[in-house]
Amino acid sequence: MIALKAVVLALSAVSALGHQLASRQPKRGCATEISAAQKDAVEADFAARRTGLPAKKAAPVTIPTYFHIIRAEETVDRGDIPESQVIAQMDALNAAFVNTPYTFELKETTRTTNETWFDVASPWGDDAVYQDDMKATLRRGGRESLNLYSLGFTDVSDGLLGYSTFASSYESNPQDDGVVFLYSTVPGGSRAIYNLGGTVSHEVGHWVGLYHTFNEGDGGEEWDTCDVSTDLVDDTPAQLYPTNGCPERSDTCPDVPGDDAIHNYMDYSDDVCYNNFTPGQVERMIAQMAIYRGL
Ligand SMILES: *[C@@H]1O[C@H](CO)[C@@H](O)[C@H](O)[C@H]1NC(C)=O
Ligand SMILES: [Zn+2]
Repeated sequence: MIALKAVVLALSAVSALGHQLASRQPKRGCATEISAAQKDAVEADFAARRTGLPAKKAAPVTIPTYFHIIRAEETVDRGDIPESQVIAQMDALNAAFVNTPYTFELKETTRTTNETWFDVASPWGDDAVYQDDMKATLRRGGRESLNLYSLGFTDVSDGLLGYSTFASSYESNPQDDGVVFLYSTVPGGSRAIYNLGGTVSHEVGHWVGLYHTFNEGDGGEEWDTCDVSTDLVDDTPAQLYPTNGCPERSDTCPDVPGDDAIHNYMDYSDDVCYNNFTPGQVERMIAQMAIYRGL
């Protein structure tokens, strides 16, 4: 029954992840999505509010961070990651954001034993109620605080590594705000290829207001044109589809100047390949964080 559910989800067109698993695998699984209608509305609001925004210097900002560990049992392979890996994850996150104004400061680590949350919490369908319960119980702080939730996705999908809310969605749904990710992606975790902490850095990229560097259509579906760059950042070239692994170089839009940003945290490359946010992304995150998180 459980296996069947996982297969159905993996093949379902409702999620970009399912689509990607079906077409080109294996690949990083991120379930952060926005519908075309939502994106249009959010970006119109952002553009309007950005116009009135006083020029902001990139002053250092400290983000209070709450790390919620959901475990099925009190063993590492059932989600109970040691504090040393929590610290290593915070270090990896801060290293990723070193060229931005943001430093993430660990305020508290919480540990909750709940096998249901560990196995099935997800943003999809009937199971969304569990992630809503989890966040309602555990979320700390206001719009300025980052809440991280590590869990297992055991009965959700083999490929899912994480998902996040966007900065712009805080106002309409504050309780949902935060990053949910696979516990074994922390540095030293068991999820090989994706166990250097890159998943949290990628998801926090969404949390500060960034989209994927590759082109996406409605709800994260693949987009088959190089004529636009759907991340709305000027210095990440148009990219037709996500990078898989860590190639020497890749250029999925050869008629557009510039190679794919394969080392960018907002691509789907392996953790070892990640090493930057571009100045354009940093500019966008500063405006997003000022407008939507008051920072
Ligand atoms: C575990 O999760 C279930 C389902 O969301 C919830 O009803 C229950 O209260 C949770 N238990 C604890 C100890 O958090
Ligand atoms: Zn993503």
